[in-house]
Parts: sequence; structure tokens; C-alpha cells
Amino acid sequence: MAFQQEIIRWYSTHKRSLPWRDTQDAYVIWLSEIILQQTRVEQGMPYFNRFLEAYPTVSDFAAATETQILKLWQGLGYYSRGRNMLFTARQILELHEGIFPVRYNDLIKLKGIGEYTAAAISSFSSGEAKAVLDGNVFRVLARYFGIDTPINSSQGKKQFSELAQSLIDPGDPALYNQAIMEFGALQCKPKSPDCPSCPLQVSCYAKNNNLIAALPVKLKK
Ligand code: ADE
Ligand code: SF4
Repeated sequence: MAFQQEIIRWYSTHKRSLPWRDTQDAYVIWLSEIILQQTRVEQGMPYFNRFLEAYPTVSDFAAATETQILKLWQGLGYYSRGRNMLFTARQILELHEGIFPVRYNDLIKLKGIGEYTAAAISSFSSGEAKAVLDGNVFRVLARYFGIDTPINSSQGKKQFSELAQSLIDPGDPALYNQAIMEFGALQCKPKSPDCPSCPLQVSCYAKNNNLIAALPVKLKK
């Protein structure tokens, strides 16, 4: 079975039930993705719920003051995320009449939305075939395909994003994106990946060449 099909099959039996996975609302997805950028799921969940309750739409969010946003953000760290979100929300009010964009090319133009977030929002909310590339995806691809190009070099970013994009399932990009991130988070973990129970073990380059601890390669800067 192809890599993608194995990942999706694994996901169907191992996925966690997470509130932001049951929606196609781009605003809700944005909220979850920004919170989860530097925060673990368990820590981010209560913040996600409180923000959504306080600000059910992007217009509500945009109408908040910075003080209010930072108060709700308290304890999450990386406070610039909260500040940037307010900027993004207000930009969406000005440029898109408060309708959260769902296309990659509109999202990527907004300040505070980078390639990862634009791919996540566009695939999850509108099914656009844009591959997400976060730490989980870098790790799974580097190990499975045996790629030792440093993930934080410009050559590596290019190589991995081309590979990720070539693998995306055009039939259901959202499902595949969720699946590969979850696979990296729960199965192909950074420290001790669970190779003996992994459906990809037979064809995994790192597993077969004893390179699990060596991949992915990250340059010290
Ligand atoms: N981390 C970042 N995005 C996520 C998502 N959609 N589901 C679970 N963990 C995530
Ligand atoms: Fe990751 Fe191990 Fe599976 Fe390879 S066999 S994809 S290293 S969990």
C-alpha cells in the first residue's frame, strides 16, 4: 500500500478526537493552529475553548482590545502570537469584510499567516490541495524517505516542501494533512518512535538503516 494510504489508514484508528477537527470554519481553524504553533494540545485546548467562547467570529475577535486578548492569552507564552492575531483579524475585516479567507493565495498575503498556517486553513476549510509542513511532517518524511538534507537549510525547505506537495492526496487533502501530523505526533515521535507497531516499518529507510536517531538533520545556527 502506498505511503499516503498507510498513513490515512493508521489515522482512522489512532486519531485523537479534537474539537477543531470537526469544523470547516476557517476562523476556528486559524484560532486552533496559531494556539498550537508553540503549545502542546493538552495545554492549548482550554485556551482554544475560552477564545472561541469569548470571540465566536473573526469580527468579534477584531473588535477586542489588545489588553483583552493578552489577558485571555495569559500563561500561553509567546505573546506576540496574540498581538499578531489581532492584527490579522482586523486585516480580514478591512480586506475581506469579515469573511475569513479559505484560499491559500488569499491567506498567505495576510500578515501573521505563514506557509504552514495557510496550508492548514485552506486544506481543512476548503479542501485545497496544499501540503502542511510542520515539525511532525519534516520528521516523518526525513525518516521514511531517508532524507538527510538539513530541514532548516534553504535547500532542505525546498526539497521537503516539494516532496510534501507531491505526496498530498488530491482526493482528500484535509484528511491526509491531519493524518500525517497526527502520525508524527503519536507514532513517529521525536525521541522514541514506536517502530515495532508502525505500519510503515518494512519500507521505512531510517528503520531499515538504523538512522532513526540521526534523522531529521537540523543545523545548529
Ligand atoms: N498541531 C497543530 N495543528 C494541529 C492539528 N490540527 N491537530 C492536532 N495537533 C495540531
Ligand atoms: Fe517512524 Fe519508526 Fe515508523 Fe519509520 S518505522 S515511520 S521511524 S515510527
